[in-house]
Amino acid sequence: MKIIVTGGAGFLGSHLCDRLIERGDNVYCIDNLITGNRDNIKHLEENPNFKFINHDVSEDFPENLRSQISDVKFIYHLASPASPNKNNPKSYISFPFQTMKVNTVGTTVLCEFALREGAKLLFASTSETYGDPLEHPQKETYRGNVSTTGPRAVYDEAKRFGETIVSAYVRSKNLDGRIIRIFNTYGERMADDGRVVIEFIKAALANKPFPIFGSGIQTRSFCYVSDLIEGIILAMERGAKGQVYNLGNPNEFSILELAEKVKKLTGVASEIKTTESLPEDDPKMRCPDITKARNELGWEPKVSLEEGLKKLIGYLKSR
Ligand SMILES: NC(=O)c1ccc[n+]([C@@H]2O[C@H](COP(=O)([O-])OP(=O)(O)OC[C@H]3O[C@@H](n4cnc5c(N)ncnc54)[C@H](O)[C@@H]3O)[C@@H](O)[C@H]2O)c1
Repeated sequence: MKIIVTGGAGFLGSHLCDRLIERGDNVYCIDNLITGNRDNIKHLEENPNFKFINHDVSEDFPENLRSQISDVKFIYHLASPASPNKNNPKSYISFPFQTMKVNTVGTTVLCEFALREGAKLLFASTSETYGDPLEHPQKETYRGNVSTTGPRAVYDEAKRFGETIVSAYVRSKNLDGRIIRIFNTYGERMADDGRVVIEFIKAALANKPFPIFGSGIQTRSFCYVSDLIEGIILAMERGAKGQVYNLGNPNEFSILELAEKVKKLTGVASEIKTTESLPEDDPKMRCPDITKARNELGWEPKVSLEEGLKKLIGYLKSR
Protein backbone atom coordinates (compact mmCIF):
# COMPACT_ATOMS: atom_id res chain seq x y z
CA MET A 1 0.00 0.00 0.00
CA LYS A 2 1.29 3.47 -0.93
CA ILE A 3 1.41 5.82 2.05
CA ILE A 4 2.59 9.42 2.51
CA VAL A 5 4.03 10.53 5.84
CA THR A 6 4.62 14.29 5.98
CA GLY A 7 7.17 15.20 8.63
CA GLY A 8 8.53 11.66 8.26
CA ALA A 9 12.11 12.71 9.14
CA GLY A 10 10.97 14.00 12.53
CA PHE A 11 10.68 12.22 15.85
CA LEU A 12 7.16 10.75 15.52
CA GLY A 13 7.18 10.60 11.72
CA SER A 14 10.33 8.46 11.57
CA HIS A 15 8.86 5.93 14.04
CA LEU A 16 5.67 5.84 11.99
CA CYS A 17 7.72 5.21 8.81
CA ASP A 18 9.52 2.36 10.63
CA ARG A 19 6.27 0.70 11.63
CA LEU A 20 4.73 1.01 8.14
CA ILE A 21 7.87 -0.28 6.42
CA GLU A 22 8.02 -3.23 8.85
CA ARG A 23 4.61 -4.38 7.73
CA GLY A 24 5.48 -4.04 4.02
CA ASP A 25 3.93 -0.74 2.98
CA ASN A 26 5.41 1.64 0.40
CA VAL A 27 6.28 4.80 2.28
CA TYR A 28 6.86 8.28 0.82
CA CYS A 29 8.40 10.40 3.54
CA ILE A 30 7.97 14.08 2.64
CA ASP A 31 9.93 16.51 4.79
CA ASN A 32 11.78 19.81 4.35
CA LEU A 33 14.01 19.10 7.39
CA ILE A 34 13.16 22.40 9.09
CA THR A 35 13.17 20.66 12.48
CA GLY A 36 13.69 17.04 11.39
CA ASN A 37 16.89 15.18 10.78
CA ARG A 38 17.80 12.84 7.96
CA ASP A 39 19.69 10.65 10.47
CA ASN A 40 16.29 9.61 11.83
CA ILE A 41 15.54 7.77 8.58
CA LYS A 42 19.09 6.82 7.53
CA HIS A 43 18.41 3.15 8.29
CA LEU A 44 15.42 3.17 5.90
CA GLU A 45 16.98 4.87 2.91
CA GLU A 46 18.33 1.67 1.30
CA ASN A 47 14.93 0.00 1.54
CA PRO A 48 13.23 -0.12 -1.89
CA ASN A 49 9.83 0.43 -0.22
CA PHE A 50 10.97 3.73 1.29
CA LYS A 51 11.50 7.05 -0.45
CA PHE A 52 12.55 10.36 1.09
CA ILE A 53 11.36 13.48 -0.71
CA ASN A 54 12.74 16.86 0.37
CA HIS A 55 9.77 19.16 -0.11
CA ASP A 56 7.93 21.87 1.83
CA VAL A 57 4.32 20.62 2.05
CA SER A 58 3.06 24.19 2.44
CA GLU A 59 3.78 24.50 -1.28
CA ASP A 60 1.72 22.65 -3.85
CA PHE A 61 3.28 19.44 -5.24
CA PRO A 62 5.09 20.06 -8.54
CA GLU A 63 3.88 17.89 -11.44
CA ASN A 64 6.87 15.48 -11.39
CA LEU A 65 6.31 14.82 -7.68
CA ARG A 66 2.57 14.43 -8.10
CA SER A 67 3.03 11.62 -10.62
CA GLN A 68 5.43 9.79 -8.25
CA ILE A 69 2.99 9.82 -5.37
CA SER A 70 -0.23 9.11 -7.24
CA ASP A 71 -2.41 6.15 -6.14
CA VAL A 72 -1.61 6.87 -2.54
CA LYS A 73 -4.06 5.31 -0.06
CA PHE A 74 -3.23 7.02 3.24
CA ILE A 75 -1.78 10.46 4.01
CA TYR A 76 -0.46 11.02 7.53
CA HIS A 77 0.05 14.78 7.92
CA LEU A 78 2.55 15.17 10.77
CA ALA A 79 4.70 17.99 9.35
CA SER A 80 5.05 20.90 11.79
CA PRO A 81 7.59 22.27 14.24
CA ALA A 82 6.43 20.99 17.65
CA SER A 83 8.55 22.29 20.51
CA PRO A 84 7.34 25.25 22.62
CA ASN A 85 10.72 26.11 24.19
CA LYS A 86 11.42 29.69 23.15
CA ASN A 87 15.14 29.38 23.91
CA ASN A 88 15.51 26.62 21.36
CA PRO A 89 16.27 27.44 17.71
CA LYS A 90 14.08 24.51 16.56
CA SER A 91 10.94 25.54 18.46
CA TYR A 92 7.79 26.74 16.76
CA ILE A 93 8.38 30.10 18.41
CA SER A 94 11.55 30.36 16.30
CA PHE A 95 9.53 29.43 13.16
CA PRO A 96 6.22 31.27 13.66
CA PHE A 97 5.28 31.76 10.00
CA GLN A 98 6.39 28.30 8.85
CA THR A 99 4.38 26.77 11.72
CA MET A 100 1.21 28.69 10.89
CA LYS A 101 1.61 27.93 7.19
CA VAL A 102 2.24 24.18 7.36
CA ASN A 103 -0.75 23.58 9.63
CA THR A 104 -3.15 25.69 7.53
CA VAL A 105 -1.95 26.14 3.93
CA GLY A 106 -0.10 22.79 4.08
CA THR A 107 -3.19 21.08 5.47
CA THR A 108 -5.27 22.52 2.61
CA VAL A 109 -2.73 21.32 0.01
CA LEU A 110 -2.86 17.83 1.50
CA CYS A 111 -6.67 17.77 1.78
CA GLU A 112 -6.91 18.71 -1.92
CA PHE A 113 -4.39 16.04 -2.86
CA ALA A 114 -6.21 13.42 -0.74
CA LEU A 115 -9.52 14.28 -2.44
CA ARG A 116 -8.00 14.00 -5.91
CA GLU A 117 -6.41 10.64 -5.07
CA GLY A 118 -9.38 9.30 -3.09
CA ALA A 119 -6.96 8.83 -0.16
CA LYS A 120 -7.69 8.86 3.56
CA LEU A 121 -6.07 11.69 5.51
CA LEU A 122 -5.04 11.96 9.14
CA PHE A 123 -4.12 15.35 10.60
CA ALA A 124 -1.80 15.37 13.62
CA SER A 125 -3.21 18.01 15.92
CA THR A 126 -2.25 18.52 19.53
CA SER A 127 -3.43 18.72 23.12
CA GLU A 128 -2.33 22.38 22.85
CA THR A 129 -5.71 23.01 21.21
CA TYR A 130 -7.07 22.76 24.80
CA GLY A 131 -4.68 25.55 25.91
CA ASP A 132 -4.61 26.07 29.67
CA PRO A 133 -7.64 23.82 30.23
CA LEU A 134 -10.56 24.60 32.49
CA GLU A 135 -11.85 21.03 32.17
CA HIS A 136 -9.79 18.15 33.51
CA PRO A 137 -9.03 15.58 32.17
CA GLN A 138 -9.69 16.83 28.67
CA LYS A 139 -12.30 15.11 26.49
CA GLU A 140 -12.50 15.67 22.74
CA THR A 141 -15.68 17.70 23.31
CA TYR A 142 -13.82 20.32 25.41
CA ARG A 143 -13.35 23.48 23.35
CA GLY A 144 -10.25 24.76 25.06
CA ASN A 145 -8.89 27.90 26.68
CA VAL A 146 -6.36 29.25 24.20
CA SER A 147 -4.85 32.69 23.70
CA THR A 148 -5.11 33.96 20.12
CA THR A 149 -2.23 36.42 20.57
CA GLY A 150 0.19 34.89 23.10
CA PRO A 151 3.61 33.47 22.13
CA ARG A 152 2.25 29.92 21.73
CA ALA A 153 -0.69 30.99 19.55
CA VAL A 154 1.25 30.51 16.31
CA TYR A 155 1.14 26.78 17.02
CA ASP A 156 -2.05 26.34 19.06
CA GLU A 157 -4.25 28.45 16.83
CA ALA A 158 -2.73 27.08 13.62
CA LYS A 159 -3.51 23.53 14.79
CA ARG A 160 -7.04 24.62 15.71
CA PHE A 161 -7.54 26.13 12.27
CA GLY A 162 -5.97 23.02 10.69
CA GLU A 163 -8.68 20.99 12.45
CA THR A 164 -11.32 23.38 11.05
CA ILE A 165 -9.92 22.95 7.54
CA VAL A 166 -10.02 19.13 7.74
CA SER A 167 -13.55 19.26 9.19
CA ALA A 168 -14.73 21.55 6.39
CA TYR A 169 -13.25 19.24 3.75
CA VAL A 170 -15.02 16.28 5.38
CA ARG A 171 -18.34 18.12 5.64
CA SER A 172 -18.40 19.97 2.33
CA LYS A 173 -16.29 17.81 0.03
CA ASN A 174 -16.70 14.39 1.59
CA LEU A 175 -12.98 13.96 2.34
CA ASP A 176 -12.21 10.80 4.31
CA GLY A 177 -10.32 12.74 6.99
CA ARG A 178 -9.79 12.36 10.72
CA ILE A 179 -7.91 14.27 13.43
CA ILE A 180 -5.79 13.12 16.34
CA ARG A 181 -4.88 15.32 19.31
CA ILE A 182 -1.49 14.11 20.50
CA PHE A 183 -0.49 14.64 24.15
CA ASN A 184 3.19 14.80 25.26
CA THR A 185 5.09 11.91 23.73
CA TYR A 186 8.70 10.93 24.37
CA GLY A 187 11.17 8.34 23.15
CA GLU A 188 14.24 7.63 21.09
CA ARG A 189 15.08 10.18 18.33
CA MET A 190 13.33 13.06 20.07
CA ALA A 191 15.10 16.16 18.89
CA ASP A 192 17.18 18.11 21.36
CA ASP A 193 14.61 20.90 21.06
CA GLY A 194 13.91 21.84 24.64
CA ARG A 195 11.05 19.46 25.48
CA VAL A 196 10.98 18.59 29.16
CA VAL A 197 11.83 14.85 29.17
CA ILE A 198 15.00 15.36 27.14
CA GLU A 199 15.99 18.44 29.13
CA PHE A 200 15.75 16.48 32.41
CA ILE A 201 17.68 13.46 31.14
CA LYS A 202 20.36 15.73 29.63
CA ALA A 203 20.66 17.60 32.93
CA ALA A 204 20.93 14.34 34.89
CA LEU A 205 23.55 12.83 32.58
CA ALA A 206 25.61 16.03 32.83
CA ASN A 207 25.08 16.21 36.61
CA LYS A 208 23.48 19.63 36.28
CA PRO A 209 20.38 20.95 38.11
CA PHE A 210 17.01 20.03 36.59
CA PRO A 211 15.67 23.10 34.77
CA ILE A 212 12.11 23.40 36.12
CA PHE A 213 9.85 26.26 35.06
CA GLY A 214 7.67 27.44 37.96
CA SER A 215 7.16 25.37 41.10
CA GLY A 216 6.96 22.07 39.21
CA ILE A 217 3.43 21.25 40.38
CA GLN A 218 2.09 21.69 36.84
CA THR A 219 1.11 18.30 35.44
CA ARG A 220 1.60 16.49 32.16
CA SER A 221 0.94 13.01 30.85
CA PHE A 222 3.76 11.28 29.01
CA CYS A 223 3.15 8.68 26.31
CA TYR A 224 5.93 6.42 25.10
CA VAL A 225 6.45 6.63 21.34
CA SER A 226 5.65 2.98 20.44
CA ASP A 227 2.23 3.31 22.11
CA LEU A 228 1.49 6.53 20.28
CA ILE A 229 2.46 5.14 16.87
CA GLU A 230 0.10 2.21 17.38
CA GLY A 231 -2.67 4.71 18.20
CA ILE A 232 -1.93 6.81 15.10
CA ILE A 233 -2.22 3.80 12.79
CA LEU A 234 -5.43 2.62 14.46
CA ALA A 235 -6.91 6.13 14.19
CA MET A 236 -6.22 6.06 10.44
CA GLU A 237 -7.45 2.52 9.88
CA ARG A 238 -10.28 2.15 12.40
CA GLY A 239 -11.14 5.76 13.16
CA ALA A 240 -14.33 7.13 11.68
CA LYS A 241 -14.41 9.86 9.06
CA GLY A 242 -14.62 13.35 10.55
CA GLN A 243 -13.83 12.21 14.09
CA VAL A 244 -11.31 13.58 16.58
CA TYR A 245 -9.36 11.26 18.90
CA ASN A 246 -7.23 12.12 21.91
CA LEU A 247 -4.05 10.02 21.91
CA GLY A 248 -1.89 10.13 25.01
CA ASN A 249 -1.17 8.41 28.27
CA PRO A 250 -3.87 9.11 30.88
CA ASN A 251 -1.47 8.70 33.83
CA GLU A 252 -0.74 12.19 35.09
CA PHE A 253 2.52 13.28 36.74
CA SER A 254 3.71 16.61 38.05
CA ILE A 255 6.92 17.97 36.54
CA LEU A 256 8.53 17.49 39.98
CA GLU A 257 7.54 13.80 39.95
CA LEU A 258 9.05 13.45 36.48
CA ALA A 259 12.29 15.01 37.73
CA GLU A 260 12.35 12.62 40.73
CA LYS A 261 11.85 9.63 38.44
CA VAL A 262 14.67 10.69 36.10
CA LYS A 263 16.89 11.29 39.12
CA LYS A 264 16.17 7.82 40.50
CA LEU A 265 16.62 6.01 37.16
CA THR A 266 19.89 7.78 36.32
CA GLY A 267 21.15 7.48 39.89
CA VAL A 268 22.49 11.05 39.92
CA ALA A 269 22.43 13.61 42.68
CA SER A 270 21.37 16.56 40.48
CA GLU A 271 19.59 19.33 42.29
CA ILE A 272 15.94 20.04 41.45
CA LYS A 273 15.77 23.80 40.93
CA THR A 274 12.45 25.61 40.56
CA THR A 275 11.82 29.16 39.38
CA GLU A 276 9.29 31.79 40.46
CA SER A 277 7.12 31.87 37.39
CA LEU A 278 5.86 29.75 34.53
CA PRO A 279 6.48 30.82 30.93
CA GLU A 280 3.57 32.81 29.45
CA ASP A 281 0.53 30.62 28.58
CA ASP A 282 2.18 27.45 29.91
CA PRO A 283 -0.70 25.10 30.81
CA LYS A 284 -0.98 24.19 34.52
CA MET A 285 -2.37 20.73 33.88
CA ARG A 286 -2.74 18.40 30.97
CA CYS A 287 -4.21 14.90 30.90
CA PRO A 288 -6.19 13.16 28.18
CA ASP A 289 -9.49 11.41 28.60
CA ILE A 290 -8.96 8.51 26.16
CA THR A 291 -12.37 6.83 26.58
CA LYS A 292 -13.19 7.47 22.93
CA ALA A 293 -9.92 5.95 21.63
CA ARG A 294 -10.41 2.97 23.97
CA ASN A 295 -13.96 2.35 22.80
CA GLU A 296 -13.69 3.16 19.10
CA LEU A 297 -10.08 2.24 18.26
CA GLY A 298 -9.46 -0.45 20.88
CA TRP A 299 -6.32 1.48 21.88
CA GLU A 300 -4.63 2.33 25.13
CA PRO A 301 -0.99 2.85 26.09
CA LYS A 302 0.89 -0.11 27.55
CA VAL A 303 4.35 1.26 28.42
CA SER A 304 4.74 2.73 31.93
CA LEU A 305 6.64 5.99 32.46
CA GLU A 306 9.47 4.16 34.26
CA GLU A 307 9.81 1.60 31.47
CA GLY A 308 9.80 4.28 28.74
CA LEU A 309 12.26 6.51 30.61
CA LYS A 310 14.64 3.57 31.10
CA LYS A 311 14.64 2.93 27.33
CA LEU A 312 15.23 6.60 26.51
CA ILE A 313 17.96 7.00 29.13
CA GLY A 314 19.70 3.88 27.75
CA TYR A 315 19.45 5.27 24.22
CA LEU A 316 20.82 8.69 25.19
CA LYS A 317 23.66 7.15 27.19
CA SER A 318 24.63 4.98 24.20
CA ARG A 319 24.93 8.13 22.08
N1 LIG B 1 5.93 14.94 20.07
C1 LIG B 1 4.88 15.34 20.73
O1 LIG B 1 4.83 15.18 21.97
C2 LIG B 1 3.71 15.97 20.01
C3 LIG B 1 2.62 16.41 20.79
C4 LIG B 1 1.54 16.98 20.14
C5 LIG B 1 1.49 17.07 18.75
N2 LIG B 1 2.58 16.65 18.04
C6 LIG B 1 2.51 16.80 16.57
O2 LIG B 1 3.04 15.66 15.94
C7 LIG B 1 3.74 16.06 14.74
C8 LIG B 1 5.18 15.53 14.79
O3 LIG B 1 5.85 16.09 15.92
P1 LIG B 1 7.34 15.67 16.31
O4 LIG B 1 7.42 15.68 17.77
O5 LIG B 1 7.73 14.45 15.57
O6 LIG B 1 8.14 16.94 15.77
P2 LIG B 1 9.46 16.99 14.86
O7 LIG B 1 9.86 18.42 14.80
O8 LIG B 1 10.46 16.00 15.32
O9 LIG B 1 8.92 16.51 13.45
C9 LIG B 1 8.19 17.35 12.58
C10 LIG B 1 8.73 17.15 11.16
O10 LIG B 1 7.98 17.96 10.26
C11 LIG B 1 8.90 18.51 9.32
N3 LIG B 1 8.27 19.72 8.74
C12 LIG B 1 7.91 20.85 9.38
N4 LIG B 1 7.38 21.73 8.51
C13 LIG B 1 7.40 21.11 7.28
C14 LIG B 1 6.98 21.51 5.98
N5 LIG B 1 6.45 22.70 5.74
N6 LIG B 1 7.14 20.63 4.96
C15 LIG B 1 7.69 19.41 5.17
N7 LIG B 1 8.10 18.99 6.39
C16 LIG B 1 7.96 19.84 7.43
C17 LIG B 1 10.14 18.79 10.13
O11 LIG B 1 11.30 18.96 9.38
C18 LIG B 1 10.19 17.54 11.03
O12 LIG B 1 10.91 16.50 10.42
C19 LIG B 1 3.65 17.58 14.67
O13 LIG B 1 2.58 17.92 13.82
C20 LIG B 1 3.34 17.98 16.09
O14 LIG B 1 2.62 19.18 16.13
C21 LIG B 1 3.68 16.12 18.63
